[in-house]
Amino acid sequence: MGERRITVIVHGATGRIGTNQHLGRALLALRKEGGLALADGDRLVPEPILVGRNGAKLQALAEALAVERWTTDLDAALSEPGEAIFFDCAATGSRPALVRRAIAARKHVYVEKPTAPSLAEALELARLATRAGLKNGVIQDKLFLPGLQKIKLLKDSGFFGRILSVRLDFGYWIFDGEQQPAQRSSWNYKKREGGGLVLDMFAHWRYVIDRLIAPVTRISALLKTHVPSRRDERGEPYAVDVEDAAYALLELEGGIAATVTSSWATRVRRDDLMIMQIDGTAGSAVAGLHHCWIQPLVATPKPHWNPDAPQPMDYFQQWQAVPDNTVHPGSFRRCWELFLRHVAEDAPFVPTLLEGAKGVQLAEAAHLSQREKRWVDLPELML
Ligand SMILES: NC(=O)c1ccc[n+]([C@@H]2O[C@H](COP(=O)([O-])OP(=O)(O)OC[C@H]3O[C@@H](n4cnc5c(N)ncnc54)[C@H](O)[C@@H]3O)[C@@H](O)[C@H]2O)c1
Repeated sequence: MGERRITVIVHGATGRIGTNQHLGRALLALRKEGGLALADGDRLVPEPILVGRNGAKLQALAEALAVERWTTDLDAALSEPGEAIFFDCAATGSRPALVRRAIAARKHVYVEKPTAPSLAEALELARLATRAGLKNGVIQDKLFLPGLQKIKLLKDSGFFGRILSVRLDFGYWIFDGEQQPAQRSSWNYKKREGGGLVLDMFAHWRYVIDRLIAPVTRISALLKTHVPSRRDERGEPYAVDVEDAAYALLELEGGIAATVTSSWATRVRRDDLMIMQIDGTAGSAVAGLHHCWIQPLVATPKPHWNPDAPQPMDYFQQWQAVPDNTVHPGSFRRCWELFLRHVAEDAPFVPTLLEGAKGVQLAEAAHLSQREKRWVDLPELML
């Protein structure tokens, strides 16, 4: 049993998702445990190099996380000899240019979603990486959330019977920076920097729906910019040039209907920030990020209907929780384990950059639907 090391160039290390999830809960957690156990008994230890624009911030982060290597010079990091992974989790807008540089330097490529701001670029990156013979992939973390894993268990067991419809409801209030600071960086509200709720969230919804329920075949969307002006990190006002809410109707393979509501301008009065209800002929399920409740056909009550009297039934009490029978190691960590195995031992890997392009395709189709006020089909993507 030996120890193998692999360099992981983490671009965007100081960002919200880079620091907490990718470094803290995945790469550094694996390193602390002595690496990922491979099929041949070796252990694969990820060795991160933190890359970003602000040297002082990077140095402070490297010290706090006890990471030895950091740099503001991406080219220097990319000239690292030997097999290495380039990982980008910085703001979306600069992703295609960075990935092109990493491919030219012959690094394997792993990126946050969305893989690019446009479908043309997303496909170009998938083609470049594949033709160069480099391993490539996109983070699809939501699949590994306990709530959605329970949906997968239900679907695989045949619990739903014939699936009829899906209702996905996501959102929360993001402060506009006037009286209280915004919880998301201002680039999220600027098209030029890869912002926009649709690009951000539809990149998730595509793989969640495709891989858990059935492939999406077409979409009709209504997009809104509910809060058109905001203040940035320095308190400067700016105009929002992207949508902050999307109301979409989707059709899935087999004629399944799906409604998908996503908003950064709504307040939460549901079980979780995201809930997904699936109704089938044999039963229904409602999942949040962690919990999942079911109601089989045989336990489905007749609802009480008398609009003149207060509702006597507590509908929430009529559902049964799916138990937590397995340990949850962290959804970003699961993504990293799969990709590291793919790189180190050629293990099968589904979410390639081509799969990632499907998320961008759905986002572009939503924008086209909004502009032309019509349904938009989603043809199969090819390399
Ligand atoms: N998988 C998920 O659930 C999930 C969640 C949040 C964000 N994300 C994705 O991760 C990426 C980062 O999101 P975040 O919320 O962590 O953002 P963030 O604003 O917190 O951090 C972005 C990082 O990128 C850097 N950065 C910003 N603009 C840059 C530019 N123009 N050039 C180079 N670096 C720049 C910042 O310094 C920071 O280190 C986005 O692509 C986003 O879609 C994914």
